Amino acid sequence: MRSKRNIAFLVAAAGLAALFALAAGLAAQQVSSTQPVTKMVPDNPSEHPAPVQPIPYSHKKHLAFGLECKQCHTNPEPGKLMTFPDTATCMQCHVTIAKDKPYIQKLAEYAKSKQPIPWVRVYTVLPGVAWSHRFHLEAGVKCETCHGYVRELDAMSEVTSVTTMYSCLNCHELNKAKTACDTCHKR
Ligand code: HEC
Ligand code: HEC
Ligand code: HEC
Ligand code: HEC
Ligand code: HEC
Repeated sequence: MRSKRNIAFLVAAAGLAALFALAAGLAAQQVSSTQPVTKMVPDNPSEHPAPVQPIPYSHKKHLAFGLECKQCHTNPEPGKLMTFPDTATCMQCHVTIAKDKPYIQKLAEYAKSKQPIPWVRVYTVLPGVAWSHRFHLEAGVKCETCHGYVRELDAMSEVTSVTTMYSCLNCHELNKAKTACDTCHKR
Protein backbone atom coordinates (compact mmCIF):
# COMPACT_ATOMS: atom_id res chain seq x y z
CA MET A 1 0.00 0.00 0.00
CA ARG A 2 2.58 2.42 1.17
CA SER A 3 4.83 1.77 -1.81
CA LYS A 4 1.91 2.36 -4.21
CA ARG A 5 1.23 5.73 -2.64
CA ASN A 6 4.92 6.55 -2.95
CA ILE A 7 4.81 5.70 -6.63
CA ALA A 8 1.73 7.89 -7.12
CA PHE A 9 3.57 10.68 -5.33
CA LEU A 10 6.63 10.22 -7.51
CA VAL A 11 4.51 10.24 -10.66
CA ALA A 12 2.80 13.44 -9.54
CA ALA A 13 6.14 15.02 -8.66
CA ALA A 14 7.61 14.03 -12.02
CA GLY A 15 4.57 15.51 -13.77
CA LEU A 16 4.99 18.73 -11.85
CA ALA A 17 8.68 18.85 -12.67
CA ALA A 18 7.90 18.35 -16.36
CA LEU A 19 5.37 21.18 -16.19
CA PHE A 20 7.93 23.48 -14.61
CA ALA A 21 10.46 22.52 -17.26
CA LEU A 22 7.89 23.29 -19.97
CA ALA A 23 7.05 26.64 -18.40
CA ALA A 24 10.74 27.50 -18.09
CA GLY A 25 11.28 26.46 -21.70
CA LEU A 26 8.41 28.67 -22.86
CA ALA A 27 9.71 31.59 -20.81
CA ALA A 28 13.16 31.11 -22.34
CA GLN A 29 11.63 31.04 -25.82
CA GLN A 30 9.75 34.25 -25.16
CA VAL A 31 12.95 35.97 -24.07
CA SER A 32 14.83 34.81 -27.15
CA SER A 33 12.10 35.88 -29.55
CA THR A 34 12.14 39.47 -28.35
CA GLN A 35 15.89 39.82 -27.81
CA PRO A 36 18.90 38.95 -29.96
CA VAL A 37 20.86 35.89 -28.81
CA THR A 38 23.45 37.76 -26.81
CA LYS A 39 23.72 35.37 -23.95
CA MET A 40 26.44 33.35 -25.60
CA VAL A 41 28.59 36.19 -24.24
CA PRO A 42 28.04 37.38 -20.65
CA ASP A 43 27.38 41.03 -19.83
CA ASN A 44 30.36 42.97 -18.54
CA PRO A 45 30.04 42.81 -14.73
CA SER A 46 32.61 45.63 -14.20
CA GLU A 47 32.03 49.36 -14.40
CA HIS A 48 32.20 50.34 -18.07
CA PRO A 49 31.74 54.08 -18.55
CA ALA A 50 31.75 55.19 -22.18
CA PRO A 51 35.04 56.92 -23.09
CA VAL A 52 34.84 60.58 -24.09
CA GLN A 53 35.00 60.59 -27.89
CA PRO A 54 36.26 63.45 -30.09
CA ILE A 55 32.71 63.66 -31.49
CA PRO A 56 29.74 62.31 -29.50
CA TYR A 57 28.52 59.86 -32.17
CA SER A 58 25.32 58.02 -31.15
CA HIS A 59 24.62 54.53 -32.50
CA LYS A 60 21.10 54.72 -31.10
CA LYS A 61 20.24 57.87 -32.99
CA HIS A 62 21.82 56.81 -36.29
CA LEU A 63 20.62 53.20 -36.32
CA ALA A 64 17.08 54.45 -35.75
CA PHE A 65 17.28 55.91 -39.31
CA GLY A 66 17.69 52.37 -40.63
CA LEU A 67 21.46 52.53 -41.25
CA GLU A 68 23.17 49.13 -41.22
CA CYS A 69 26.43 48.17 -39.52
CA LYS A 70 28.11 47.41 -42.82
CA GLN A 71 27.58 50.93 -44.12
CA CYS A 72 30.18 52.05 -41.58
CA HIS A 73 32.05 48.87 -40.51
CA THR A 74 33.62 46.67 -43.17
CA ASN A 75 35.86 43.64 -42.80
CA PRO A 76 38.68 44.13 -45.35
CA GLU A 77 41.45 41.55 -45.93
CA PRO A 78 42.93 39.87 -43.97
CA GLY A 79 39.73 40.10 -41.92
CA LYS A 80 40.97 40.91 -38.43
CA LEU A 81 39.36 44.36 -38.20
CA MET A 82 35.85 45.76 -38.70
CA THR A 83 37.36 49.27 -39.19
CA PHE A 84 35.83 52.71 -38.60
CA PRO A 85 34.06 54.71 -41.32
CA ASP A 86 35.81 57.36 -43.40
CA THR A 87 34.77 60.84 -42.42
CA ALA A 88 33.42 61.15 -45.96
CA THR A 89 30.77 58.56 -45.02
CA CYS A 90 29.54 60.87 -42.29
CA MET A 91 29.71 63.89 -44.59
CA GLN A 92 27.34 62.27 -47.12
CA CYS A 93 24.64 63.46 -44.75
CA HIS A 94 26.33 66.09 -42.65
CA VAL A 95 27.30 68.30 -45.55
CA THR A 96 23.75 69.54 -45.02
CA ILE A 97 22.26 67.86 -41.92
CA ALA A 98 22.85 69.79 -38.68
CA LYS A 99 25.73 71.61 -40.36
CA ASP A 100 25.57 74.54 -37.98
CA LYS A 101 25.97 72.41 -34.85
CA PRO A 102 29.43 72.71 -33.21
CA TYR A 103 30.22 68.98 -33.37
CA ILE A 104 29.24 68.80 -37.02
CA GLN A 105 31.54 71.74 -37.70
CA LYS A 106 34.30 69.81 -35.93
CA LEU A 107 33.41 66.81 -38.12
CA ALA A 108 33.69 69.00 -41.22
CA GLU A 109 37.15 70.12 -40.09
CA TYR A 110 38.33 66.51 -39.82
CA ALA A 111 36.90 65.87 -43.28
CA LYS A 112 38.67 68.92 -44.73
CA SER A 113 42.02 68.06 -43.12
CA LYS A 114 41.69 64.43 -44.33
CA GLN A 115 42.81 63.30 -40.88
CA PRO A 116 41.03 60.22 -39.52
CA ILE A 117 38.94 60.94 -36.42
CA PRO A 118 40.90 59.65 -33.41
CA TRP A 119 38.10 57.48 -31.99
CA VAL A 120 38.90 56.09 -28.54
CA ARG A 121 38.82 52.29 -28.67
CA VAL A 122 36.18 50.48 -26.60
CA TYR A 123 36.86 46.73 -27.05
CA THR A 124 40.46 45.53 -27.12
CA VAL A 125 41.86 42.01 -26.97
CA LEU A 126 45.18 41.55 -25.20
CA PRO A 127 47.92 42.04 -27.82
CA GLY A 128 49.38 38.72 -28.97
CA VAL A 129 46.12 36.77 -28.65
CA ALA A 130 45.03 35.36 -32.03
CA TRP A 131 41.83 37.23 -32.87
CA SER A 132 40.00 37.87 -36.11
CA HIS A 133 36.46 38.99 -36.92
CA ARG A 134 36.59 36.90 -40.10
CA PHE A 135 36.24 33.38 -38.57
CA HIS A 136 33.33 34.58 -36.50
CA LEU A 137 31.43 36.34 -39.26
CA GLU A 138 31.90 33.31 -41.52
CA ALA A 139 30.53 31.09 -38.74
CA GLY A 140 27.45 33.35 -38.70
CA VAL A 141 27.98 34.96 -35.30
CA LYS A 142 26.03 38.24 -35.11
CA CYS A 143 27.58 41.57 -34.12
CA GLU A 144 25.06 41.91 -31.29
CA THR A 145 26.03 38.54 -29.81
CA CYS A 146 29.47 39.94 -28.99
CA HIS A 147 28.80 43.70 -28.72
CA GLY A 148 25.36 43.75 -27.07
CA TYR A 149 22.37 45.95 -27.89
CA VAL A 150 24.30 48.48 -29.96
CA ARG A 151 21.02 49.95 -31.20
CA GLU A 152 20.20 51.11 -27.69
CA LEU A 153 23.55 52.74 -26.95
CA ASP A 154 23.76 56.50 -27.14
CA ALA A 155 27.44 56.28 -26.22
CA MET A 156 29.35 53.11 -27.09
CA SER A 157 30.77 51.31 -24.06
CA GLU A 158 32.08 47.85 -23.24
CA VAL A 159 28.72 46.32 -22.34
CA THR A 160 29.85 42.71 -22.79
CA SER A 161 32.84 40.76 -21.52
CA VAL A 162 33.74 39.43 -24.99
CA THR A 163 37.42 40.32 -24.65
CA THR A 164 37.99 38.00 -21.67
CA MET A 165 39.39 34.50 -22.09
CA TYR A 166 36.40 33.09 -20.21
CA SER A 167 34.02 34.49 -22.82
CA CYS A 168 36.08 33.24 -25.76
CA LEU A 169 36.35 29.74 -24.27
CA ASN A 170 32.75 29.55 -23.09
CA CYS A 171 31.40 30.38 -26.53
CA HIS A 172 33.86 28.05 -28.24
CA GLU A 173 32.64 25.22 -26.01
CA LEU A 174 28.98 26.06 -26.71
CA ASN A 175 29.66 26.03 -30.46
CA LYS A 176 32.10 23.12 -30.53
CA ALA A 177 34.83 25.42 -31.86
CA LYS A 178 38.48 24.76 -30.94
CA THR A 179 39.52 25.22 -27.32
CA ALA A 180 43.17 24.07 -27.38
CA CYS A 181 45.48 26.76 -25.96
CA ASP A 182 47.32 27.24 -29.26
CA THR A 183 44.04 28.18 -31.02
CA CYS A 184 44.46 31.62 -29.46
CA HIS A 185 48.01 31.61 -28.06
CA LYS A 186 50.53 30.92 -30.80
CA ARG A 187 53.84 29.57 -29.63
C1 HEC B 1 26.93 55.79 -39.41
C2 HEC B 1 28.05 54.95 -39.10
C3 HEC B 1 27.92 53.78 -38.16
C4 HEC B 1 27.01 52.76 -38.20
C5 HEC B 1 25.83 52.58 -39.14
C6 HEC B 1 27.40 51.83 -37.16
N1 HEC B 1 28.51 52.30 -36.51
FE1 HEC B 1 29.54 51.34 -35.04
N2 HEC B 1 30.80 52.93 -34.87
C7 HEC B 1 30.75 54.06 -35.65
C8 HEC B 1 31.71 55.02 -35.15
C9 HEC B 1 31.95 56.42 -35.72
C10 HEC B 1 32.36 54.42 -34.05
C11 HEC B 1 33.45 55.05 -33.16
C12 HEC B 1 32.82 55.89 -32.07
C13 HEC B 1 32.16 55.09 -30.99
O1 HEC B 1 32.80 54.22 -30.39
O2 HEC B 1 30.95 55.33 -30.74
C14 HEC B 1 31.77 53.10 -33.89
C15 HEC B 1 32.13 52.19 -32.93
C16 HEC B 1 31.61 50.91 -32.82
C17 HEC B 1 32.06 49.90 -31.87
C18 HEC B 1 33.18 50.06 -30.85
C19 HEC B 1 34.50 49.59 -31.43
C20 HEC B 1 35.66 49.74 -30.49
O3 HEC B 1 36.10 48.74 -29.94
O4 HEC B 1 36.15 50.85 -30.31
C21 HEC B 1 31.30 48.80 -32.07
C22 HEC B 1 31.39 47.49 -31.32
C23 HEC B 1 30.36 49.11 -33.13
N3 HEC B 1 30.58 50.40 -33.56
C24 HEC B 1 29.40 48.25 -33.59
C25 HEC B 1 28.42 48.59 -34.51
C26 HEC B 1 27.32 47.70 -34.88
C27 HEC B 1 27.12 46.30 -34.32
C28 HEC B 1 26.56 48.37 -35.79
C29 HEC B 1 25.24 47.92 -36.44
C30 HEC B 1 24.22 47.46 -35.50
C31 HEC B 1 27.19 49.67 -36.00
N4 HEC B 1 28.29 49.76 -35.19
C32 HEC B 1 26.73 50.66 -36.89
C33 HEC B 1 29.93 54.27 -36.73
C34 HEC B 1 28.87 53.48 -37.09
C1 HEC C 1 32.81 36.73 -31.80
C2 HEC C 1 32.65 38.06 -31.25
C3 HEC C 1 32.53 39.25 -32.16
C4 HEC C 1 31.68 39.43 -33.22
C5 HEC C 1 30.70 38.44 -33.81
C6 HEC C 1 31.88 40.78 -33.69
N1 HEC C 1 32.85 41.40 -32.95
FE1 HEC C 1 33.55 43.26 -33.21
N2 HEC C 1 35.02 42.95 -31.83
C7 HEC C 1 35.16 41.81 -31.08
C8 HEC C 1 36.38 41.87 -30.33
C9 HEC C 1 36.91 40.80 -29.38
C10 HEC C 1 36.98 43.13 -30.64
C11 HEC C 1 38.32 43.68 -30.15
C12 HEC C 1 39.37 43.29 -31.20
C13 HEC C 1 40.76 43.83 -31.04
O1 HEC C 1 41.24 44.11 -29.95
O2 HEC C 1 41.40 44.01 -32.09
C14 HEC C 1 36.09 43.78 -31.58
C15 HEC C 1 36.32 45.04 -32.17
C16 HEC C 1 35.42 45.69 -33.00
C17 HEC C 1 35.60 47.02 -33.55
C18 HEC C 1 36.80 47.92 -33.35
C19 HEC C 1 37.68 47.89 -34.60
C20 HEC C 1 38.23 46.53 -34.84
O3 HEC C 1 37.87 45.89 -35.85
O4 HEC C 1 39.00 46.03 -34.01
C21 HEC C 1 34.48 47.30 -34.29
C22 HEC C 1 34.21 48.58 -35.07
C23 HEC C 1 33.63 46.14 -34.23
N3 HEC C 1 34.21 45.18 -33.45
C24 HEC C 1 32.42 46.05 -34.88
C25 HEC C 1 31.76 44.83 -35.12
C26 HEC C 1 30.66 44.67 -36.05
C27 HEC C 1 30.02 45.77 -36.88
C28 HEC C 1 30.33 43.34 -36.05
C29 HEC C 1 29.32 42.59 -36.91
C30 HEC C 1 29.53 42.73 -38.35
C31 HEC C 1 31.21 42.69 -35.07
N4 HEC C 1 32.07 43.63 -34.56
C32 HEC C 1 31.18 41.36 -34.75
C33 HEC C 1 34.27 40.74 -31.05
C34 HEC C 1 33.28 40.50 -32.00
C1 HEC D 1 22.33 58.75 -43.26
C2 HEC D 1 22.68 60.08 -42.85
C3 HEC D 1 23.70 60.22 -41.74
C4 HEC D 1 24.98 59.70 -41.68
C5 HEC D 1 25.68 58.80 -42.70
C6 HEC D 1 25.56 60.19 -40.46
N1 HEC D 1 24.67 60.98 -39.79
FE1 HEC D 1 24.98 61.94 -38.04
N2 HEC D 1 23.05 62.56 -37.99
C7 HEC D 1 22.15 62.35 -39.00
C8 HEC D 1 20.87 62.95 -38.62
C9 HEC D 1 19.59 62.94 -39.44
C10 HEC D 1 21.08 63.52 -37.34
C11 HEC D 1 20.06 64.24 -36.48
C12 HEC D 1 20.14 65.70 -36.75
C13 HEC D 1 19.28 66.49 -35.79
O1 HEC D 1 18.85 65.95 -34.76
O2 HEC D 1 19.09 67.68 -36.06
C14 HEC D 1 22.47 63.27 -36.99
C15 HEC D 1 23.06 63.73 -35.85
C16 HEC D 1 24.42 63.66 -35.57
C17 HEC D 1 25.09 64.30 -34.46
C18 HEC D 1 24.44 65.21 -33.43
C19 HEC D 1 24.47 66.62 -33.94
C20 HEC D 1 23.98 67.58 -32.86
O3 HEC D 1 24.82 68.18 -32.20
O4 HEC D 1 22.75 67.66 -32.70
C21 HEC D 1 26.41 63.97 -34.53
C22 HEC D 1 27.53 64.42 -33.59
C23 HEC D 1 26.57 63.10 -35.68
N3 HEC D 1 25.34 62.96 -36.29
C24 HEC D 1 27.77 62.55 -36.09
C25 HEC D 1 27.91 61.68 -37.16
C26 HEC D 1 29.14 60.98 -37.49
C27 HEC D 1 30.43 61.09 -36.72
C28 HEC D 1 28.87 60.23 -38.58
C29 HEC D 1 29.80 59.27 -39.29
C30 HEC D 1 30.37 58.22 -38.48
C31 HEC D 1 27.49 60.46 -38.95
N4 HEC D 1 26.93 61.33 -38.06
C32 HEC D 1 26.85 59.90 -40.05
C33 HEC D 1 22.37 61.71 -40.19
C34 HEC D 1 23.52 61.01 -40.54
C1 HEC E 1 29.82 34.12 -29.69
C2 HEC E 1 30.70 32.99 -29.79
C3 HEC E 1 32.20 33.19 -29.87
C4 HEC E 1 32.97 34.07 -29.14
C5 HEC E 1 32.53 35.03 -28.06
C6 HEC E 1 34.33 33.87 -29.58
N1 HEC E 1 34.38 32.92 -30.55
FE1 HEC E 1 36.05 32.38 -31.61
N2 HEC E 1 34.93 31.16 -32.77
C7 HEC E 1 33.57 30.95 -32.62
C8 HEC E 1 33.11 30.10 -33.72
C9 HEC E 1 31.68 29.59 -33.92
C10 HEC E 1 34.25 29.82 -34.51
C11 HEC E 1 34.31 29.03 -35.82
C12 HEC E 1 34.51 27.60 -35.58
C13 HEC E 1 34.64 26.84 -36.89
O1 HEC E 1 34.52 27.44 -37.97
O2 HEC E 1 34.93 25.66 -36.79
C14 HEC E 1 35.38 30.51 -33.88
C15 HEC E 1 36.68 30.47 -34.37
C16 HEC E 1 37.77 31.10 -33.79
C17 HEC E 1 39.13 30.98 -34.24
C18 HEC E 1 39.60 30.13 -35.43
C19 HEC E 1 39.88 28.75 -34.92
C20 HEC E 1 40.36 27.83 -36.01
O3 HEC E 1 39.51 27.14 -36.58
O4 HEC E 1 41.55 27.82 -36.28
C21 HEC E 1 39.91 31.74 -33.39
C22 HEC E 1 41.42 31.94 -33.44
C23 HEC E 1 39.01 32.33 -32.41
N3 HEC E 1 37.73 31.91 -32.70
C24 HEC E 1 39.43 33.15 -31.39
C25 HEC E 1 38.55 33.76 -30.48
C26 HEC E 1 38.97 34.68 -29.44
C27 HEC E 1 40.39 35.10 -29.16
C28 HEC E 1 37.82 35.07 -28.79
C29 HEC E 1 37.67 36.01 -27.62
C30 HEC E 1 38.33 37.31 -27.73
C31 HEC E 1 36.71 34.40 -29.43
N4 HEC E 1 37.19 33.62 -30.44
C32 HEC E 1 35.40 34.59 -29.06
C33 HEC E 1 32.74 31.47 -31.66
C34 HEC E 1 33.10 32.47 -30.75
C1 HEC F 1 39.42 30.99 -27.65
C2 HEC F 1 40.61 31.73 -27.33
C3 HEC F 1 41.50 31.29 -26.17
C4 HEC F 1 41.87 30.01 -25.85
C5 HEC F 1 41.50 28.70 -26.53
C6 HEC F 1 42.78 30.13 -24.71
N1 HEC F 1 42.93 31.46 -24.39
FE1 HEC F 1 44.16 32.18 -22.93
N2 HEC F 1 43.53 34.09 -23.34
C7 HEC F 1 42.62 34.41 -24.31
C8 HEC F 1 42.36 35.85 -24.23
C9 HEC F 1 41.38 36.63 -25.09
C10 HEC F 1 43.18 36.35 -23.18
C11 HEC F 1 43.25 37.81 -22.71
C12 HEC F 1 42.28 37.96 -21.58
C13 HEC F 1 42.19 39.35 -20.98
O1 HEC F 1 42.77 40.31 -21.51
O2 HEC F 1 41.48 39.45 -19.96
C14 HEC F 1 43.90 35.21 -22.64
C15 HEC F 1 44.83 35.30 -21.60
C16 HEC F 1 45.56 34.24 -21.11
C17 HEC F 1 46.55 34.34 -20.07
C18 HEC F 1 46.96 35.58 -19.30
C19 HEC F 1 47.49 36.66 -20.14
C20 HEC F 1 48.85 36.39 -20.72
O3 HEC F 1 48.94 36.15 -21.94
O4 HEC F 1 49.84 36.45 -19.97
C21 HEC F 1 47.07 33.08 -19.89
C22 HEC F 1 48.16 32.67 -18.92
C23 HEC F 1 46.34 32.19 -20.78
N3 HEC F 1 45.44 32.92 -21.52
C24 HEC F 1 46.55 30.83 -20.88
C25 HEC F 1 45.79 29.94 -21.63
C26 HEC F 1 45.91 28.49 -21.58
C27 HEC F 1 46.88 27.74 -20.69
C28 HEC F 1 45.00 27.99 -22.47
C29 HEC F 1 44.66 26.52 -22.77
C30 HEC F 1 44.12 25.81 -21.63
C31 HEC F 1 44.33 29.15 -23.09
N4 HEC F 1 44.82 30.30 -22.53
C32 HEC F 1 43.37 29.04 -24.09
C33 HEC F 1 42.04 33.56 -25.23
C34 HEC F 1 42.17 32.19 -25.23
